[in-house]
Amino acid sequence: MNVLELKNVSYMYDDGNEYVLKDISFAFEKGKVYAIKGRSGSGKTTLLSLISGLEKYKIGNIIYQGKELNAINLDYYRSHSIGIVFQSFNLLPHLTALENVVLSMEINHIKENKKEKAIQLLEEVGIDQTKANRRVLKLSGGEQQRVAIARSLSYNPDIIIADEPTGNLDHETENDIMEIFTELAHKQNKCVIIVTHSKNVASQADIVFELKKSSKRK
Ligand SMILES: Nc1ncnc2c1ncn2[C@@H]1O[C@H](COP(=O)(O)OP(=O)(O)OP(=O)(O)O)[C@@H](O)[C@H]1O
Ligand SMILES: [Mg+2]
Repeated sequence: MNVLELKNVSYMYDDGNEYVLKDISFAFEKGKVYAIKGRSGSGKTTLLSLISGLEKYKIGNIIYQGKELNAINLDYYRSHSIGIVFQSFNLLPHLTALENVVLSMEINHIKENKKEKAIQLLEEVGIDQTKANRRVLKLSGGEQQRVAIARSLSYNPDIIIADEPTGNLDHETENDIMEIFTELAHKQNKCVIIVTHSKNVASQADIVFELKKSSKRK
């Protein structure tokens, strides 16, 4: 069953004069890794903004668990259903790895055992307790991305979306991060959606979608 489905979605920014996305229909299931590729400007980040409810679509349908996204409580959706990982990690550099994950739990109203849960999540992505207690700016890029993945899991969402998550990392570290995403999909039944320019990342996904360049407004 699809956890998320886009049906004939077209999108134009308010100040734009052409469609950034035109008639997109993609379906996503839990337990799989998806790669979305396409040239710069083809609308990949825009697509993730629509999926995460940051931008509102007006044409077509986005269906989450059988419900139209525009009709559900987007604050709840964003703090329960979807976790986000960025290319530049977007952690708070002066806090420790552990504090970054716990803070996300606080923001998203997780009440119990925050510290224990955060330590466990960090261990699952390969951050031991010594590193968990280190300030993020003293971790390597690959380690910071592991922390960002742990943070995205802090409220146990069904869907993880990642925008160029390995764009700042070397090939070997990219493979380590892909191993984590693949395990999240295949062992923890998450739906992982990764925007990428990397052929290596796309080759490790279960399904690859490509965005073609948009057409001009008629
Ligand atoms: N907030 C915005 N307001 C207006 N136009 C935008 C906005 N964000 C993006 N765009 C435009 O939408 C188009 C698609 O941008 P988007 O960032 O989705 O592309 P992308 O595929 O992620 O590119 P890249 O691979 O370079 O990250 C571009 O022409 C961009 O200028
Ligand atoms: Mg982008």
